[in-house]
Amino acid sequence: METMPRIAVFAFCLFLFAGSWKSRGREFLLVLMENTHYTNSLVLGIINTETVTSDVVITSPLLPNALNESLQIDAMNSIEFTATSLSLELKNYVSKAILVKSTTDIVVIGLNFVSYSADAFLTFPTDALGLDYFIVTYCSDVDDRCQFSIVSTGNDNTITLKLPMRSITFQQPINQKTAYSGGENITIMLQAYEVFFTQSTDDLTGIRIRSTYPILVSSGNSVGHWLNHTNVDHGEDIMPPVKTFGQSFALVTNPAAYAMDYVWVIASEDATTLSLFLQENTTRTISRAGQAERILLTTAFGSLTTDKPVMVVQFTCDYNPGVWSMFVVTPVLQYALNPTVFALNTSEYFVNYAVIIVQERYKDIILLDERNITAALSWTPINGLDFVAARVLINFGIHSVLLRANLSSETTAVVGGYVFGRATTTSYAYPFGYGMVCNLL
Ligand SMILES: *[C@@H]1O[C@H](CO)[C@@H](O)[C@H](O)[C@H]1NC(C)=O
Ligand SMILES: *[C@@H]1O[C@H](CO)[C@@H](O)[C@H](O)[C@H]1NC(C)=O
Ligand SMILES: *[C@@H]1O[C@H](CO)[C@@H](O)[C@H](O)[C@H]1NC(C)=O
Ligand SMILES: *[C@@H]1O[C@H](CO)[C@@H](O)[C@H](O)[C@H]1NC(C)=O
Ligand SMILES: *[C@@H]1O[C@H](CO)[C@@H](O)[C@H](O)[C@H]1NC(C)=O
Ligand SMILES: *[C@@H]1O[C@H](CO)[C@@H](O)[C@H](O)[C@H]1NC(C)=O
Ligand SMILES: *[C@@H]1O[C@H](CO)[C@@H](O)[C@H](O)[C@H]1NC(C)=O
Repeated sequence: METMPRIAVFAFCLFLFAGSWKSRGREFLLVLMENTHYTNSLVLGIINTETVTSDVVITSPLLPNALNESLQIDAMNSIEFTATSLSLELKNYVSKAILVKSTTDIVVIGLNFVSYSADAFLTFPTDALGLDYFIVTYCSDVDDRCQFSIVSTGNDNTITLKLPMRSITFQQPINQKTAYSGGENITIMLQAYEVFFTQSTDDLTGIRIRSTYPILVSSGNSVGHWLNHTNVDHGEDIMPPVKTFGQSFALVTNPAAYAMDYVWVIASEDATTLSLFLQENTTRTISRAGQAERILLTTAFGSLTTDKPVMVVQFTCDYNPGVWSMFVVTPVLQYALNPTVFALNTSEYFVNYAVIIVQERYKDIILLDERNITAALSWTPINGLDFVAARVLINFGIHSVLLRANLSSETTAVVGGYVFGRATTTSYAYPFGYGMVCNLL
């Protein structure tokens, strides 16, 4: 079977301008979606990626008195900042967007946190946001509340929600109506920094969102019973725009996984063929754009290639499946040179891991925090790709994953992966590796 990573990685710099996402920037929007019924907070890990001090201002633009914080971050350093009281309430139109602005390029990681229920996300600068998205949520049969939010970057932003081919009932009326049938379109209008927020006990996966001006889309659920387990945990991530979907993905389970990790593959076009390299090699077809194919990861180090662009979301759980989190799997095409990862610290003590994925021929030039970790790591080949993965325990705070490559001769060496943190009754996960190659060259 033909696989694509080599060509894909060579094409990377061209794609950065055509459709690659980037995680470094100077302006970011965030929201704090609902998480259980308790008061949650937004823990931000902010990394200054430049060699000068950064002045960072964090505000809530439509509620000027709620949040107005000025911070300084030293060169190549990071801070943790916690915002409370801006949790979205269940109303369709909310004023609680959070804006982070900085004088240097930063990376922003968010953790939606309440004791026993948390999940993290990597956010993206406003100049990288798009106009076309799909929603992914998980709802068990135990009355979970699926949810998503949209933040507008511009005024008079006309946004259309096109429902998948099944009926959906929302918790609150949208345009005076709660029950919608399959295929219906819902049109809403948002002003700059305004947030649209909705919940449902129905799975919202496959809703397609198109806008006139760029939007930030977050999706997940307040609390979910993964695989009907009696324990609940929060899950969310920021959705990538369709223009950044990929065709090649490494699928690696977390180090505490218990053979219950799934990926959901969302097709962006009709008649999409998936080639799966798991314990066995198989193919599947998704007939319609927006449909999700649910795939149990029968091996810890597998992969997926497709003939049309897709989004892959991994639902990863602990050996206690009530402890789960969701993250968008970074397409191989978006892997980056020298990403930084951040392990979050909260009152709940997380044990943090970085899952590092790199092409086999570059594994010996990987440095973690500028140390050669090759001897300490156990690299495992990924079935179906010429990539290997290692899962490494990391302490709280900022870490660099560096390739000791000569940039002028090794521009194709890139790294991707995700960070996974677990506490006794909760876990978080977020992807890293998005679109930084050309920024550094
Ligand atoms: C925010 O704080 C800065 C000083 O840190 C102040 O100059 C500014 O007026 C404040 N903005 C609002 C809306 O309160
Ligand atoms: C929803 O909009 C799409 C085009 O954006 C159109 O093809 C479809 O027919 C619409 N659905 C309904 C039920 O009107
Ligand atoms: C969850 O429970 C429902 C009914 O109670 C059942 O139909 C479904 O198969 C269960 N799902 C899993 C993953 O066990
Ligand atoms: C982690 O958080 C705990 C609780 O807030 C705090 O006591 C501890 O000092 C933090 N550790 C680091 C390394 O920041
Ligand atoms: C890292 O260590 C491994 C063996 O432990 C060695 O083969 C490799 O050359 C080292 N890489 C660098 C960049 O020094
Ligand atoms: C699956 O495909 C990969 C890549 O082509 C190959 O290396 C592997 O041997 C295949 N596995 C099986 C069980 O056929
Ligand atoms: C990188 O490669 C270029 C050309 O091959 C060479 O001139 C330069 O000295 C190398 N730099 C390092 C740091 O090895």
